[in-house]
Amino acid sequence: MSIHDKIHDVAVIGAGAAGLAASIFAAEVVAKADRQHRIVILDSAKKIGAKILISGGGRCNVMHEVVASTDYCGNRRIIKNVLAAFSVDQTVKWFASLGVELKCENTGKLFPVTDEARTVLQALVERCHELGVEIQSNHRVDDIEHAKDHGHGFVIHHSQGILHTRKVILATGGRSIPKSGSDGFGYSLARRLGHHVTTTVPALVPLVLEDTMFHKTLSGLSHDVKLTTMVKGRHVDSRTGSLLWTHFGISGPVVMDASRFWCLAQEQDETVAVYGNFLPDQTSEQAQQWFMDQAAGTPRRSLARTLGQLVPERFAEALCLHIACDPQTAIAQLPRKDRDRLIEALTAFRFPVERHRGWNYAEVTAGGVPLEEINYRTMESKLVPGLYLVGEILDCDGRIGGFNFQWAWATGWIAGRASAMQSTMA
Ligand code: FDA
Repeated sequence: MSIHDKIHDVAVIGAGAAGLAASIFAAEVVAKADRQHRIVILDSAKKIGAKILISGGGRCNVMHEVVASTDYCGNRRIIKNVLAAFSVDQTVKWFASLGVELKCENTGKLFPVTDEARTVLQALVERCHELGVEIQSNHRVDDIEHAKDHGHGFVIHHSQGILHTRKVILATGGRSIPKSGSDGFGYSLARRLGHHVTTTVPALVPLVLEDTMFHKTLSGLSHDVKLTTMVKGRHVDSRTGSLLWTHFGISGPVVMDASRFWCLAQEQDETVAVYGNFLPDQTSEQAQQWFMDQAAGTPRRSLARTLGQLVPERFAEALCLHIACDPQTAIAQLPRKDRDRLIEALTAFRFPVERHRGWNYAEVTAGGVPLEEINYRTMESKLVPGLYLVGEILDCDGRIGGFNFQWAWATGWIAGRASAMQSTMA
């Protein structure tokens, strides 16, 4: 038997969303051409698919009904091209072809009709089996080197031995939930092959507030807030959405989406501040006017009840106490200086953020292998021919709503097909 008989055509490192998608698309190209192939997925985890199973609260928010590059951070020109290659319609049809029917909720998020993430994982794994893709769990990849003896390809060193392959698809994910298998080692593999890796920080992560705050008393309450992040005094992000008060601080979609900016600035030792406008539709001037109208119209109404028309009353009480105003004061009796302080607290509240909640609570990683080092038409490395990168290992992170999985499917589609077409097997 010659060495060529033992060479795999494509080895995919990582059996997460991106790796499974890439293997399926690679195997489909070969199956269509009626050729034999050896496509293998190696994953360090004993059981694959942990992130798919825990995603979307166990329901897996597979994608979003409308996807644009502005839903992501990273090089938006490249992101736009990648997303255009595998549209929302194509993705829905692909899932239907796998037997996964999706439903769109009024938030625009798509979930399997079964409301079970397991449906998605099972369908992907079954399709791999149908196509003859080998899935090797408990195979941690420690190193990837260029093959020396037979001219081209790679030698993969893993926990069970070595493997020769013509193409490698690196789909090792980021650093969030390290116990799932995505512990950031993929970045070291990429670096050893010559790639850069930008600063990686948690994204879509809750924020922990200082103990002096009132968050504990409001635990479980959520309401709309406009969050603004300022770095070194400069505005970097504003967004409006639901904020959830918790026993440790703040969470909810708007906080999760904004967290990457706080984490990045903090990692880079830059001064960063997060402000909340609890009256997202109003400026402080409009709030002042509203307050004075209320004081004229219903002068004896308490502060808490008055504010309760705009924000949850429990929150209004906590905020008043926080700035040392009695929430039961009749609004007309409120001294002007207290009214000004209250308006400021309502419209430009500086959250005393102590830290982010850590990698065990982050849904994704911001930062990674720069998209400029990849040919977006194929997802092949511009530095290492035969190496492809997909999914979260790349420097691209989406907001909450199915955008990160869409990135995994789209990059998997491009790399899977390109690696199979360019491989000697095609
Ligand atoms: P992923 O991390 O999924 O997979 C990487 C794989 O590589 C892992 O299986 C790991 O074991 C393996 N691996 C790593 N290093 C290795 C090595 N050295 N050798 C071998 N194998 C190795 N997104 C979304 O769009 N909708 C949602 O509902 C959610 N919900 C959600 C909830 C929670 C709690 C989290 C943590 C995340 C989400 N996400 C999400 C984000 C989404 O799960 C994430 O972006 C994708 O799973 C990333 O897919 P990848 O395949 O790139 O990496």
